[in-house]
Formats: sequence, structure tokens, C-alpha cells
Amino acid sequence: MDIAIVGSGYVGLVTGVCLAHIGHHVICCDNNEEKIKVLKSGGVPIYEPGLNELLAKYRKSKRIVFTTSIAEAAKKATVIFIAVGTPSKKNGDADLTYIENVAREVARNMDSYKLLVEKSTVPAQTGNRIERTIRLNLPKNSTLEFDVASNPEFLREGSAVEDFMHPDRVVLGVSSKRAERLLREVYKPLKANIVVTNVATAEMIKHASNSFLATKISFINSVAQICERVGADVEKVAEGMGYDKRIGRSFLNTGIGYGGSCFPKDVDAFVRLAEKSGYDFSILKSVRQVNEDQKKSFIRLIEDKLWNIKDKTIAVWGLAFKANTDDMRSAASLTIIEALQAEGASIQAYDPVAMDNAKKMIKGVKFCEDAYAAVKDADCLLLLTEWDEFRKVDFTKVRDTMSQTVIFDGRNFLDHDALGAFGFECYGIGRGKHA
Ligand code: UDX
Repeated sequence: MDIAIVGSGYVGLVTGVCLAHIGHHVICCDNNEEKIKVLKSGGVPIYEPGLNELLAKYRKSKRIVFTTSIAEAAKKATVIFIAVGTPSKKNGDADLTYIENVAREVARNMDSYKLLVEKSTVPAQTGNRIERTIRLNLPKNSTLEFDVASNPEFLREGSAVEDFMHPDRVVLGVSSKRAERLLREVYKPLKANIVVTNVATAEMIKHASNSFLATKISFINSVAQICERVGADVEKVAEGMGYDKRIGRSFLNTGIGYGGSCFPKDVDAFVRLAEKSGYDFSILKSVRQVNEDQKKSFIRLIEDKLWNIKDKTIAVWGLAFKANTDDMRSAASLTIIEALQAEGASIQAYDPVAMDNAKKMIKGVKFCEDAYAAVKDADCLLLLTEWDEFRKVDFTKVRDTMSQTVIFDGRNFLDHDALGAFGFECYGIGRGKHA
């Protein structure tokens, strides 16, 4: 099939490349000329495992092409996915300006039946608004038909290609048999579980899924707080809970709170949506509060153990909001580094792939070429992202390089007992002190 994707960010690009991989012809569109230039000339503007190789293959065979023109994309394809950004406004609402622009542009350039599919996370009812915008912008007296559908994306950064190719489910929110038939055709090669429903329900499935996962994280982070106080080990608690099939072990990793481009924004948007519909979503408000508190309590732990922060040299391993991505959006590292800098600490940081993005967002940090350079003469080390590489480090070298061998492990990622035996003082989350 000929498919257009409007918006070539994480979701749009991965979706486009994967749709090409399963046999479709894809035209990816973005209004950022620089990004399209990079994509056309063989570059990839984001780091995502596996994406580069697939992109190179299908760019060469022209199964995927790029443009800055929505008109061109809309003319070429029958199915048009909308994957543009929906940033949060100050009041927590999602800013849907880009979505409206796409709907308007597509309508003005329509010459045959089109199916517009929301891929971005949008508040329930956005489907109705897109439909209305198209009607208002179709050429006068037009009899052209169109459908609007919702097909929320559940892929995770860092494993996005894998997630796309092997989804737990594909959700299709449709309002006509024609739209359902077309979308089933798009996803046929994946042989996935398909849930077909109406547009508003599909939008709600996305809200509820992301918010539920965020709730699991805040729940275990709250449990970790209590574990810390009563001398229990949250890792064992999570293991013990996780064997219960009704609960499951995933998303019970305690840490410095969730970040990224989705959870913080999606939780905000769901709270707002509930408010507007007259419901006080108090559980989700607490989820958000716990997430903020988690960073603060990590900072308090450092202040407590390090005594004075002023003039201390603090090493940071990991800046990205999670491992296997270069994404710094809403990364916990930003809040933590900023707070320690405000108290007069010097920060020496290293991240395997996120440093270029980090440099644009944090000032006054010494960015180091590897994990060893970051710990040189440091008074303590903070592990903020769970990159595999940090488990393979030679800790003898680290011990000999650091000024004080104190580690704050914000992800409970390192082997605290082994490091303790090796002379490190290690502090994790919800586990008490392991020295
Ligand atoms: C998330 C959803 O998982 C995905 O379905 C949706 O399409 C987009 O949002 P993503 O933001 O890429 O994906 O990352 P995810 O792996 O879900 O992690 C989100 C944040 O939660 C990260 O900061 C991560 O470190 C944190 N997290 C995750 C925890 O703190 N504990 C966990 O157990 C899991």
C-alpha cells in the first residue's frame, strides 16, 4: 500500500521505516527542512537500535521517501498517519495545533478518498475535531469521502523497532468498515492481536495504558520509600510481587522516577482530560506527585551522605531518561544535576549516546569522553541511567581514580554487595545502605 506519515520524530520515523519493512511504500513528511535534508542524504536524526540499518535499506530501494510537503504526501497515499508532536501546554492540556494544521492541509489537497489515522497520543475527542476540520477545509461543494481513525502507538524508545514488529496488540479505532478494512490490510503482515473499536475508545486505551504503567512505577517507588524506612529490600518485594501473574514483574523497577517524552506528558493530559469531563482523577495526581518526590528524595540522600555539596566534584554516569536512547526529554538527570549545581557542586558527566542532546539542555557540566574520565577525583558517583556498559566497567580503576568511593545508584543497577566488599559505599533506592 502507499502510506504517508506526517511527522518524522521518534514515532513517525519508526512507524514509517517499519511499514516499509513489512512491504508498504512510505512517504515520510516533516515541516523541519533540516531534518528532511538529513534523512534524504542518508542520515538518521535520532538514535534508535536497528533503525539505521532498515532505513538505509529501504531508502536505497526507494520504499521510503521523504518530503516537506504535506500536499505531496497526501496526494500519493490513501492512508495518512498523523505522528506530529503534541507538546504539553502550561496548563497540562496537549497542544494540538500541529494536528489541526495537518488536517487542514490534507483537506485542502485531497483529490480522492483518504483515511487519516491518529498515531500521536491525543486527548479523547480529537478524532471528532480532525473530522470537523477536514469538513470545513474541503474544497467548496466537494463530495470527496474520508475517514478518521485512531491507531495509538505503544512502542518504547530503545526497543521501538522490535516493539513495532512484535506488538502485544494493535488497536484500531474506526468509524467505518472501509477504514477497518484498510487498517487491517496495513497490519496484516504482523499477525498481531487486533482490537477493533470506535475512535474515542481507542484514544482512551492509549491514555489508560500509559497512565497505568506510570502508576505501577510510582507505586513501587512509594513502596521503596517505606522499604527504606523499615529495612526491607524493594528489589525482593518487586520480585515477590512480580511472580503473581495478575501483577507481573515489568514496570516495577524503582528508581529516580519516570521521564521521557510520553509518561510525564500523557499523565498530565489524562489528569486534565478528567478534570474537563468533571472527574477528579486523584490517583493519577498522586502518581505525578510521587514521581516528582522521588527525584527530591534522591537529592536529599546525596545531601545527607555527602554532608556539604558546595565545592564537591560529582560524577554522573548516564544522562538519558532511560538506557538505549539519546533522548533527554524530561530526564531525571536534568532535575538532579540542576539541584546539585545550585548548591555549588561541579558535575563531570558521561553518557554513551545522549551527550550531544544533553549539551543543548544543561550548562556548566564537564562532559567526559568515557566513564573513567567522569569519575576522576570525584567525591561521589551518581548512576542515573542503566546503560549496560556501566556494569562492565573496571571498578578497580574507578576506585583508584575517585577521591571518595561513594556511589549513589539511582536505578539499583549495580551489584551493591560486590562493590561494598570492594571498598565502595553504595546507596540504592529502597534497600538501605550497602557498604
Ligand atoms: C512509554 C511506553 O512504554 C510506550 O508504550 C509508549 O508508546 C511511550 O511511552 P518510553 O517513554 O519509550 O515508552 O519508555 P519506557 O520504557 O516506558 O520508560 C518510561 C520511563 O519510565 C523511563 O524514564 C524509565 O526509566 C521509567 N521506568 C520504566 C521506571 O522507572 N521503572 C520501570 O519499571 C519502567
